Amino acid sequence: MAESRNYKKYTVTTALPYANGPIHIGHLAGVYVPADIYVRYLRMRGRDVLFVGGSDEHGVPITIRARQENISPQQIVDHYHNKIKKSFEDFGISFDIYSRTSNPIHYQLSQDFFLKLLNKGELFTQNILQYYDEEAGQFLADRYIIGTCPHCGYTEAYGDQCEKCGSSLSPQELINPRSTLSGSAPVLKETLHWYLPLDKYEGWLREWILEGHKEWKPNVYGQCKSWLDQGLQPRAVTRDLDWGVPVPLPDAEGKVLYVWFEAPLGYISASIDWSKKTGKDWQPYWKNQDTKLIHFIGKDNIVFHCIIFPVMLKMEGSYILPENVPANEFMNLEGKKISTSRNWAVWLDEYLVDFPNKQDVLRYVLTINMPETKDSDFTWKNFQQHNNNELAAIYGNLVNRALVLTHKYYSGLVPENFLIEDEEMIYSFITKKRDEVTNYLEQFKFREALNSMMDVARFGNKYLTEKEPWKLAKTSPNITKGIIYNILQLVANLSLLSEPFLPFTAQKLRNILHINLLDWDKIGTPLLKTGARIEQPIILFEQISDEVIENQLNKLHKSDAVEVVNRLDDLKPIISWEDFEKIDLRVGQVISAEYISNADKLLKLQINIGGQIRTIVSGIAQHISPDQIINKKVILVANLEKKKIRGVESEGMVLFVENKNGDLMLVCADDNAKPGDKVK
Ligand code: 2FM
Ligand code: ZN
Repeated sequence: MAESRNYKKYTVTTALPYANGPIHIGHLAGVYVPADIYVRYLRMRGRDVLFVGGSDEHGVPITIRARQENISPQQIVDHYHNKIKKSFEDFGISFDIYSRTSNPIHYQLSQDFFLKLLNKGELFTQNILQYYDEEAGQFLADRYIIGTCPHCGYTEAYGDQCEKCGSSLSPQELINPRSTLSGSAPVLKETLHWYLPLDKYEGWLREWILEGHKEWKPNVYGQCKSWLDQGLQPRAVTRDLDWGVPVPLPDAEGKVLYVWFEAPLGYISASIDWSKKTGKDWQPYWKNQDTKLIHFIGKDNIVFHCIIFPVMLKMEGSYILPENVPANEFMNLEGKKISTSRNWAVWLDEYLVDFPNKQDVLRYVLTINMPETKDSDFTWKNFQQHNNNELAAIYGNLVNRALVLTHKYYSGLVPENFLIEDEEMIYSFITKKRDEVTNYLEQFKFREALNSMMDVARFGNKYLTEKEPWKLAKTSPNITKGIIYNILQLVANLSLLSEPFLPFTAQKLRNILHINLLDWDKIGTPLLKTGARIEQPIILFEQISDEVIENQLNKLHKSDAVEVVNRLDDLKPIISWEDFEKIDLRVGQVISAEYISNADKLLKLQINIGGQIRTIVSGIAQHISPDQIINKKVILVANLEKKKIRGVESEGMVLFVENKNGDLMLVCADDNAKPGDKVK
């Protein structure tokens, strides 16, 4: 069974989810289900595994959310940490520890780690200019600055990215930047930060990954190669922020460790947390050369786990490096990207309300559609098909047939075997499939592994259908006994082979069969003794009706429609009455409209606002033609400072509605309104 080295221990980590929202199917399919399958398999092989998870509780989005909801970041993370932890438990993600980065153990470990790198001379400092909000009295994270995008003119672009045109930005590129904390224009101020000189480790990384880890999945290897080919730059590992792990130095007040510096260290601090709780030593799992370290992550985390974290570990010197980072791509939902803010998601807690005790159905469908090599799609119809045609019709049906026959003919006792040849043939088939599953799992090919497991159930059904024991019971009692004996052994083997994939069902099945062992090496051998009692069958998988699926689709589309409510997530900070009253809104009638050459998004409008005609440049040309806007009574901001746009001086701004797709629509005044009337 393919394994390149003999490892004594395994440390398996899963990306620490941000504790600012619940968990959805995309998280499960990308990271936690594959990791759990892998770990359950390793444990069944008797491997010594430490399976680590936890919540990532720092980072700017959490502080933004807290500010919007007017509660503390700690309150936010407490709420979601508990919710996320529960979802993982509910879905059988069998962590040895689910910890969190607001844990004091984590602060200690991260600060010690930082100091060790500093004392080894691995970090350097640099003064940089950063935006500072004088009213709020603090430096601004990129996400706390908005302004006009220099590429597309969108006025609400963030300091790190314009969500309209998708350009990556630095805050200093924004035109008219303003702070989301106070609304004021931030000023550039000098600040000191600590840097990780990634560039110095480029040669080592090239050797370690590009030469040493050619076996990594192509998506992971390819992304690493492209990063390395572009050349690495030093990265700041500190931030001016009031939420995070404080930089442990006297002259660093108001500074915290960058979340991507400390979050991966969360794997180690979680292991220490585990050690404190269990009394076992964590160090061999992180420091022994014969421990295999595997990080399960999504594709957006590749650079952090394959480049930055390994460099940190290498600099520190006492830890092992990851052997593999089997990152997955993303899972879409009904053809669209899963989106928390648009509520386009299947949330795990809600799933269990609608489908109680059907964790394995979801685990199965997420595994069969796992985004291993490219983005995949979850659809409710496909969920129904896999449940009805595979879990219920193949797996559930086989178990049911075997158990019903045993009760019907042998009062629930395992009969004697009179078909030794069949028995041998069945074990050899199962052993072959077990080895296939093993090989696939060792290569992180979960879809194929699942299919090989299901082949055993398919084989069992075929065996029963071909042998037709129900026709032989009277005429050939010994043959019938042999068939039932053999099919029971196959079902018993399935209760082990399916354990990593369908742990809830496999356990139910073992309860029925009174099987107490969980041993991978026993797969392909007799697991039941003649005369042993087995329990009555229960329904393992029910058919799921069209109506249930329709309901899920309706729910999804409805939640998409109430997106307006969810979009309030990006409400701007409260402004004073005084500030509001500074804005002078007026009715204006458009008297002419024309395209501006070489600017396909802009219209030049002449607008009558009563006493005067204003020229206004408006970015709506792709939504409304000049014909459609002429004579319309629009609303405009009449006291906005003038601004030159494409050489034309614009004297105000026309108001539009923007929907979720970025479509713009005019806001018009009533017919009776006159140019120049006030809008209040
Ligand atoms: O992308 C994310 O959701 C991050 N919170 C993952 C962190 S993984 C590790 F570094 F902690
Ligand atoms: Zn833009």
